[in-house]
Amino acid sequence: MPFHLSLAGREAAGLKRSLPLIDKVAGRLLWSAGQSYLNFAGNDYLGLSQAPELREAADRAALEFGAGAVASPLVVGHQAVHRALEAELCDWLGLEAVLLFSSGFSANQAVIKALLGKEHLLWQDRLNHASLQEAGLLSPARLLRFAHNDMAALEARLKPSAGLIVSEGVFSMDGDLGDWPGLSRLAGQSGNWLMIDDAHGLGVLGREGRGTLDELGVAPEQVQIFMGTFGKALGVGGAFVGGSRELVDYLLNFGRGYVYSTHLPPPQAAA
Ligand SMILES: Cc1ncc(COP(=O)(O)O)c(C=O)c1O
Repeated sequence: MPFHLSLAGREAAGLKRSLPLIDKVAGRLLWSAGQSYLNFAGNDYLGLSQAPELREAADRAALEFGAGAVASPLVVGHQAVHRALEAELCDWLGLEAVLLFSSGFSANQAVIKALLGKEHLLWQDRLNHASLQEAGLLSPARLLRFAHNDMAALEARLKPSAGLIVSEGVFSMDGDLGDWPGLSRLAGQSGNWLMIDDAHGLGVLGREGRGTLDELGVAPEQVQIFMGTFGKALGVGGAFVGGSRELVDYLLNFGRGYVYSTHLPPPQAAA
């Protein structure tokens, strides 16, 4: 028997998951089993998944480039439509370079697993998303969790130049903001790198939706790794990791979730 966890145990605890079948989601409304509901459950904060401009861009790209990218970006998957999206993101967010991923989950895994070795420490806010926590558990680096947004607790455990501090822009469960002025002060003083997962801040906060750092007045150069997703306020799906050209070259060579995965479908990139 290959299962090491108990489905029956989950069921007994009233925690067994199953898939709700939704007929259609359209902004603030959704339909299921013939009934309509007000939708408070999605991440489509601006309703962009339904915007005619995005749907038409996706349609045009599907006709011009095809439905899928057909290969890893390093084989024949990286097309002009991806390059245009990368340039747009760099320009919008003040980043030197970015790399596109098919999901935020895989982007977080790729970064943390590729970057850190057993000689590194990885500090994570206790409320960080499962994709970050899981990457931390799989990484050979030593994982240290600090109490949510508690800068004194983090400072007490920080070691100079030993690794990476990871937190979120807008926390996915509680909806509060990370203490980015505090994090950038501590990272700057200790010589550690910072990574922001701004899945929920991008598109919503800051000037022209540039995200949490912009909202809080933290300069992009103070945060070495910027991860954002396209599946929430941007209404589509997929993700990117941005930073210096050197970081992006490193991930393009060593990020296994990038190298060995089919590239973002062209219609998604175009949208
Ligand atoms: C904070 C955060 N990071 C990463 C992800 C994963 O992104 P994706 O849905 O693109 O895999 C999510 C949610 O899905 C999230 O809430």
